[in-house]
Amino acid sequence: MKIGILGAGNIGKQIGRLAVSSGHHVLLSNSRGPETLPFDIVAELGDSLTPSTAREVVTESDLVVVAIPLGNYSRIPEPPAGKIVIDAGNYYQARDGVIAELESGSATTSGLLQAHLPTARVVKAFNHIASAELTTDSRKPGSPGRRALIVAGDDPTARATVAGLVDAFGFDPLDIGELSEGWRVQAGTPAYCVPLTKEELSESLSRTERPSASA
Ligand SMILES: NC(=O)c1ccc[n+]([C@@H]2O[C@H](COP(=O)([O-])OP(=O)(O)OC[C@H]3O[C@@H](n4cnc5c(N)ncnc54)[C@H](OP(=O)(O)O)[C@@H]3O)[C@@H](O)[C@H]2O)c1
Repeated sequence: MKIGILGAGNIGKQIGRLAVSSGHHVLLSNSRGPETLPFDIVAELGDSLTPSTAREVVTESDLVVVAIPLGNYSRIPEPPAGKIVIDAGNYYQARDGVIAELESGSATTSGLLQAHLPTARVVKAFNHIASAELTTDSRKPGSPGRRALIVAGDDPTARATVAGLVDAFGFDPLDIGELSEGWRVQAGTPAYCVPLTKEELSESLSRTERPSASA
């Protein structure tokens, strides 16, 4: 696949590395333009990476990963209808500003992205792991203690596609159902950024109570 990544920071670069090591081509953008992308990742991924604008990422990729601060979601260009858009974001008031719907728990971060991109198939994934651990904790399928990561989204086919990527990137996918379930792995929940196996993650999420601010 051509995997487009919006955001060339901590999480975007790590997703790019895993995508390329899994045999995909990467289109990468930041907020300023392709010529300003970090040199380290451009040099590292070489011909497997096309420096891009945000609009090129959403139009020319088979699948898009959003790895930018939540406060900038309203600037994401609309992709063609039906495109799978992975949301790796989290809400931090100090960074993103106060977002009333998240403070009250009436919305989730991925729900806000879905509302901004109504024809996209948004899937929440890769938000509850520290970026460095995406490479250090990646293991082959069947490895003892393999770490698990959730997928959540309203379209089952899109969830299955993203679950396949999670597996290819080195983690056991745990399908937790609809996008509205994403609060279970928001910042501050027991499973957030804690290495857990699929059984442990499933058990933890089943006991998680909804806090006031939502993922
Ligand atoms: N860091 C982690 O360990 C981690 C783990 C899981 C999830 N997350 C979540 O992932 C998101 C990104 O975190 P991060 O730590 O990777 O951030 P970061 O290192 O600060 O990088 C943010 C990147 O987003 C780009 N960007 C901002 N607005 C954009 C736009 N409108 N279009 C395209 N690119 C844009 C920035 O480009 P410019 O430099 O040009 O502004 C920058 O490359 C956050 O929601 C965070 O909570 C982070």
